Amino acid sequence: MRPSIAPAVERLGTEGAFAVLARARALEATGRDVIHLEIGEPDFETPPHVAEAGIAAIRAGETHYCQTAGLPVLREAAAASLADSRGVAIDPENVVVATGAKPFLFFTVLATCGPGDEVIYPDPGFPIYESAVRFSGATPVPLPLREDRGFSFDPAELEELLSERTRLVILNAPQNPTGGVIAQVDLERAAAAIERTPAWVLTDEVYSRITYDVDAPSIASLPGLLERTVLLDGFSKTFAMTGWRLGYAAVPAELVDPLTRLIVNSTSCVPPFAQLAGVAALEGPQDAVVEMVAEFRRRRDFLVPALNTIPGVRCIEPGGAFYAFPNVSELPIRADELADRLLDEAGVALLSGTSFGANGNGHLRISYASSLENLEQAVERIRGFVGAL
Ligand SMILES: Cc1ncc(COP(=O)(O)O)c(C=O)c1O
Repeated sequence: MRPSIAPAVERLGTEGAFAVLARARALEATGRDVIHLEIGEPDFETPPHVAEAGIAAIRAGETHYCQTAGLPVLREAAAASLADSRGVAIDPENVVVATGAKPFLFFTVLATCGPGDEVIYPDPGFPIYESAVRFSGATPVPLPLREDRGFSFDPAELEELLSERTRLVILNAPQNPTGGVIAQVDLERAAAAIERTPAWVLTDEVYSRITYDVDAPSIASLPGLLERTVLLDGFSKTFAMTGWRLGYAAVPAELVDPLTRLIVNSTSCVPPFAQLAGVAALEGPQDAVVEMVAEFRRRRDFLVPALNTIPGVRCIEPGGAFYAFPNVSELPIRADELADRLLDEAGVALLSGTSFGANGNGHLRISYASSLENLEQAVERIRGFVGAL
């Protein structure tokens, strides 16, 4: 008899970006030239003072097991940073540190949801939300993001989806894959509706520092909401630290122990030298962040108008993150086929909107965490390919 795989694992989804990256690398191995616009990570180095803090910590012997919930010094720095930026008091005891923001997506779902529960999450949205919900046995309930609302949700639709069965509502702004943000009035209406249910909130704010002249308010800042909200932030995007695997969240008191137990059962702790680099990132000079965001803005300001000059392509201006989400529904080809063929025939790696849920249909996701030169070339390759359809 063949041994089998657990059904829960069969229900896990994956991240399209990693699959397309693998295909792109395979093409490159055959000598093809590929422009990478698929992966969501800053194309900048970790700021030198942050990297040096990590190296100094390794030299000082910070290479052993440490506290599961995080080093007190990082929990304090993260609490101060969250409190300052979101305008709410946050106790370091309520801050938990993990190997990236991602574990919080998974562990918050596992700590709060099970069969019979419903979880509302953005669609299109980061694919791990739906994947984690399916793994837990809970029912995923997609909340459509509307292009005509700048890729935010319609609060009336959220009100309709909320019920006694809703155990968790996941929000994300600035948003992956659309770059959308949520207006304060919509958050207020959402908060009022959520408070009438037994739902926790997970607000994924890993792109909170990457905005362009717009506010990306947090639901955790609204009166009474912090007590039911996991407020998630991280280092990957803000400080170009994707490989350090470091993230943190302010969590309600009742969830500190469940989340800590999930961490001790899986990774034990985050390497202390990475955490000490995180302290340097939060407390040190912020010039590198400011410069990176300014560069992302230059690229956005080139990319979005350029995409709009391609017949059949429409792209709204994203308010944050480093993604454009052009609408290609007027082209005579499905978005997933278009994405495949752009890679195979034009050497441009990007993602179909359908990698982010059914509501991503008719769109592409372009990560502009790539040089202006690459973006210019990519636009011309897309224009040429689309023009020949
Ligand atoms: C919306 C969103 N949340 C979480 C993550 C994961 O970030 P981390 O590298 O901190 O685990 C990503 C990464 O792409 C993301 O786009």
